[in-house]
Amino acid sequence: MVVKCKRCGVNNAEIYLAHSNLRLCPDCFMLLTERKVKHAVETYKMISKDDNIGIAVSGGKDSSSLAYILSKSFEKIPITLIHIDLGIPNYSQHCLEKVKELSKIIDRELVVYSLEKELGFKIPDFKATIYGKKMCSACGAIKRYLFNKITYDLGLTKIATGHNLDDTVEALFNSYVEGNVGALVRLRPFLPKTHPKMMPKIKPLIGLTDMECLIYAEYRNLPIRSLGCQFSESSRTIRRKRLLNLLAENMPNFKHTFISSHFRRLLPCLETALKDHETKIYECPNCGMPTSLEGVPCHFCKIVSIVLEKKDKHASEAG
Ligand code: AMP
Ligand code: FES
Ligand code: ZN
Repeated sequence: MVVKCKRCGVNNAEIYLAHSNLRLCPDCFMLLTERKVKHAVETYKMISKDDNIGIAVSGGKDSSSLAYILSKSFEKIPITLIHIDLGIPNYSQHCLEKVKELSKIIDRELVVYSLEKELGFKIPDFKATIYGKKMCSACGAIKRYLFNKITYDLGLTKIATGHNLDDTVEALFNSYVEGNVGALVRLRPFLPKTHPKMMPKIKPLIGLTDMECLIYAEYRNLPIRSLGCQFSESSRTIRRKRLLNLLAENMPNFKHTFISSHFRRLLPCLETALKDHETKIYECPNCGMPTSLEGVPCHFCKIVSIVLEKKDKHASEAG
């Protein structure tokens, strides 16, 4: 039986959103998806008219949809796409091609930062270090540091990432399980500046599921990668997301309820309880960027020195 779109009542419905029990045609789905992003941006006051935004684009469905929607919805705001070339064989070349295509489609400048050219190592070099079994966590730390540093160096005002509802639910769930109260308080749709070199971070896709981002990117025909990173396949994040999806199968609005309870009810209580426990911010003696560590190199400088030391050792043994 052909079902009509719940919104326009004219076109055939092709998309079913279980969490809101809506059947939509592609046009209405795209319109509502864009509205959800604009709504999140307005609710959390993520963008103001004098902003000059950097968008971290990976070549994946989320950040490509994000760049497309922000570019379309905030035409007058200057936007720069930032891509970090991680040097992962095949995967990184493939991602780079996709972000280059995206930048042409949306007509926004793309800045590519190559780990190998700028820092002298690639993510696979971590395999031979103590991070060999937690490649994703080393890679994540490098990316987070660089998003901030590149945004600061380019003189941009904020950095947007493609973290969506599923990413946020997974990260919050993990912090609850670990009792990591600091991480629970830091994770926000809009994290303002807490130090002159700590750039504000925004997550405009906070209201969209993984599935919505994927369907949006596909219907808009956006260039997105078809290869996965060889180091993330069995990562804990992916396993936890699978578990949370099982919950959502039985309780379709579980993720939305979890997020809204956290941000509306629990976060204000945590903030009040922790207001006298603000973490101090220092500057790294090596790179000058903000860090919570006093008098010693920041986490980024530490892991970079570990990977470079290992590379030098290998090179001298081989030579
Ligand atoms: P992930 O941690 O891989 O799920 O990525 C989360 C977000 O970080 C993405 O939506 C992008 O905004 C950004 N991102 C991830 N990898 C890269 C990359 N290589 N270059 C630029 N941005 C990235
Ligand atoms: Fe960072 Fe795979 S993209 S380890
Ligand atoms: Zn440092």
